[in-house]
Amino acid sequence: MCGITGFVGKNSIRNTMIGIKSLEYRGYDSAGIAFINNKKVEVLKEEGKIENLEKFINYDLDSLISIAHTRWATHGAANKINAHPHSAGKITLVHNGIIENYKELKNKYKDYKYKSETDTEVIAVLMNELYSEYKDMLKTLNKAIEILKGSYALAIINSDYPDTLYAIRKDSPLIVGVKDSDTMLASDVPAILHFTNKYYLLDNYDIVKVDSKGVRFYNDNKEITKRINIYDNSSDITSKNGYDHYMLKEINEEPSVFRNTLKEYINNNKIVNMFDISKYDEIEIVACGSAYHAGCLGKHYIEEYANIKTNVYYASEYRYTKHFYNSNILVIVISQSGETADTLAALKMANDNNVDTLGIVNVYKSSIAREAKHVIYTKAGIEISVATTKAYMAQSLTLLLLALNVKQDSSIIKELFKIPSILTKYINRTYKKIAKVIAKYNHIFYLGREIDYYLALEGSLKLKEISYIHSEAYPAGELKHGTISLMDTNTLVISVVTDDKIKEKTISNLKEVMARDTKVLSITNTSGDFYDYKVDIIENDSLTPFIVMIPMQLIAYEVARIKGYDIDKPRNLAKSVTVE
Ligand code: AGP
Ligand code: GLU
Repeated sequence: MCGITGFVGKNSIRNTMIGIKSLEYRGYDSAGIAFINNKKVEVLKEEGKIENLEKFINYDLDSLISIAHTRWATHGAANKINAHPHSAGKITLVHNGIIENYKELKNKYKDYKYKSETDTEVIAVLMNELYSEYKDMLKTLNKAIEILKGSYALAIINSDYPDTLYAIRKDSPLIVGVKDSDTMLASDVPAILHFTNKYYLLDNYDIVKVDSKGVRFYNDNKEITKRINIYDNSSDITSKNGYDHYMLKEINEEPSVFRNTLKEYINNNKIVNMFDISKYDEIEIVACGSAYHAGCLGKHYIEEYANIKTNVYYASEYRYTKHFYNSNILVIVISQSGETADTLAALKMANDNNVDTLGIVNVYKSSIAREAKHVIYTKAGIEISVATTKAYMAQSLTLLLLALNVKQDSSIIKELFKIPSILTKYINRTYKKIAKVIAKYNHIFYLGREIDYYLALEGSLKLKEISYIHSEAYPAGELKHGTISLMDTNTLVISVVTDDKIKEKTISNLKEVMARDTKVLSITNTSGDFYDYKVDIIENDSLTPFIVMIPMQLIAYEVARIKGYDIDKPRNLAKSVTVE
């Protein structure tokens, strides 16, 4: 997780800090910076968010080299001592990832007086030792790559070379932005967009050397050339555009995300340019969190419209269960960030077993996009809020189009074009009153059946991750097998009741709940006596799930707002989960 940046050139500190602030969604346990001042390395670090660090930064200092970090702690508490950068001797560095053999290494260099509990500090110790032996940074980095196990993106300063910045990566993302003779390192594209839209993507084991003359790349002891990428959507740069939170901005972008996706894949009322799943007998969808929930909707659509048996798995489970692969199976992995460690590992496993793999990914050329045999990019644009909204919608829509590509049902395809303006209608409604009701509860159950249950899963996750209210999603019919014992006046049920095929059954389950004096809020397109509070959905067709997403997201948003929490950066979370 975490974000790292580095800059070589004019206004280095300012550029590094602008970059790191735009990566704060990746972790916010602590922040730190190292920079060269009068040929000497100086380090500043603070616990908590970047704003705590900013107070100590002199933006006018004339420094040509700096590196910065925003942390999501994996080893050692979220405090100032464990904050990056970490230094040992001549080496100062920032790290994104996990060093799996850090204990072994700490044991090897046990005489060193470690200041932190991190797995990172020992990298600095190792590099300092190697450098004192080789007196050459390239040799040092090559050897470190041989020794280090786990994942890392590292930006490194050696005080012997105060005009040079080094970087290496393995299984954690790192890009190198360039403009004239200035260079910027970063974990992700948003961090460089204020500076340039031209960047290089690093591959595993690449070594980067940057000085005032520019950037050089090495791999396996040889200098290599790399292809430059242009990020051509700089318009979705990372500002809040007047909204109070990125989450709200991103919900407001959903109609255009929907429209852009249709534009890409529909022509003359036919699905075009879409990956063809019709030749497979079976599909396995693998993902985490909200992407898993989109996968559940995908299962529904693929089975319904493409008639292909489909199962959905949590990536963290899929990695460790037995598989019965054959050449007629397609494994679809879904990921906004394209860096989620469990999803990436599941994908690698499928690839190693020679099954076809398809990545549905939002971040261009991310690890999953590069690893998958086939890739579809979702059209969500950059998503900053840790709680995903527009990317989840884009994933769900892409899966629907994947399924419709087999059936080419022209009536549904036509209906799709009506959805963006309906989404806007629901975005413009207010959910403040209902949010006030929800905010009073400490325990909430989201109920639904089949597709309504898949939506409930996401509604519940959205609510709990930003409002910290304990909330679970349950298949409505399963409640009576144990969980109904939790129903009382202190519990609220939120139900999704939109699917004609099964809604009568859900309604009976809700009546059972109401008989236990539990209040029910229904997000529904049906009238009746199965709720105490209602969020009215007018539409009633196969595309209704896309409409339901908006009230669910906005309800979670409003509840978190009432509670006064940091909506875009909920506690303990990070946008891209690059650890197991
Ligand atoms: C949802 O709001 C999340 N923050 C989280 O569940 C997320 O969907 C999950 O971690 C998967 O991330 P990915 O799409 O980047 O792989
Ligand atoms: N493992 C390192 C730490 O805990 C880096 C974590 C990160 O990538 O955020 O400090």
